[in-house]
Amino acid sequence: MQQRLCSIIAILAAACIHTVTAQYNFKWAPATINAPAVVGFHVPGVPAWTQWFSTNNKDAGESPAENIQKCTSGGDNVWGASFDDGPTPYTPRLLEYFAAKKLKTTFWVVGYNVQANPDILRATYDAGHEIGIHTWSHTHLTQLSDDEIIAELVYGARAVFEVIGKYPKYFRPPYGDVDGRVRSLAAMVGLRSVIWSRDSQDWVYYANTTAINFIVPNNFKSWIDAGSKMDISLEHDFDPSTVSVGIKAMDMLLDAGYTLKPFGECIGETALYGNSILPKFFASGLFESKLAPVQTATELHGIPIAVITSTYRSEAAVKTSTKTSSVDAAVPFLTGFLAVFLLLA
Ligand SMILES: *[C@@H]1O[C@H](CO)[C@@H](O)[C@H](O)[C@H]1NC(C)=O
Ligand SMILES: [Zn+2]
Repeated sequence: MQQRLCSIIAILAAACIHTVTAQYNFKWAPATINAPAVVGFHVPGVPAWTQWFSTNNKDAGESPAENIQKCTSGGDNVWGASFDDGPTPYTPRLLEYFAAKKLKTTFWVVGYNVQANPDILRATYDAGHEIGIHTWSHTHLTQLSDDEIIAELVYGARAVFEVIGKYPKYFRPPYGDVDGRVRSLAAMVGLRSVIWSRDSQDWVYYANTTAINFIVPNNFKSWIDAGSKMDISLEHDFDPSTVSVGIKAMDMLLDAGYTLKPFGECIGETALYGNSILPKFFASGLFESKLAPVQTATELHGIPIAVITSTYRSEAAVKTSTKTSSVDAAVPFLTGFLAVFLLLA
């Protein structure tokens, strides 16, 4: 009898757990997309969606806007803080902080972390914070083929949509690794690139509590002392140490008289989730038939895609070799894998 009771309880418990996880459907979620740096190289299993976007939204891709990296609205004292690579189990501590201060901020979220922690993203969104796309698997976009870049953005957007029911218009390229080709493809997906003007370097020192608690506040102090105006800062919610020092940094900005604004507000954007192309894409049925073969001979306003992408590719090579400080951490990878592993275990 007791055994039977237990099995009934077990069935009920399983039903309860099922009900909770069934809120979000991630059956479509891909494995991490990673690929050789060959333009046009088609990794088996990577969806061939570039053709659809270049056919249906080619005007957007032809002259993509530059990266956004500063606030443009709300006055000199506005500061656009942002936290990347979540959602993680450490994100709620930031949510508590911002709730206590009655302030909002911006979270650039990684698709596979959304899959692992959908409830945390939901709580973040419900609390009124802004959500932006930080790709599906946090890879170096300039090293991917066109199809892979599109897939990283589409899957990242789909993960966000699965939880908040909205498609953002902005994305943050992981490691700040972005060039004209990436911007062009992103624009066809209805996405504009947002980087930052102040790198806290929390991603460099997150593993050393002494170092991070010295260097990050020191960086903010030097920016405040220099009279920084309308900056967008880069911080992370992937580790307890980055969250702690992030809170310290926000207190420093508030004490110095800055007004903390989420990204969209600090650029005067009133339709943060008004992506008009992604709803059409998902209505097209192509997302479900993701293994459609790659189509070549695509053109953009009379210029073959291959010519455009090889031009952008050489620009990428130049930019990558001169870049020194706009690289953020690879740690979220490990965090994500661990989270997924724990979820499956
Ligand atoms: C941590 O950072 C401090 C201060 O920069 C340094 O003195 C210390 O050696 C670092 N510890 C480790 C384990 O790297
Ligand atoms: Zn990142």
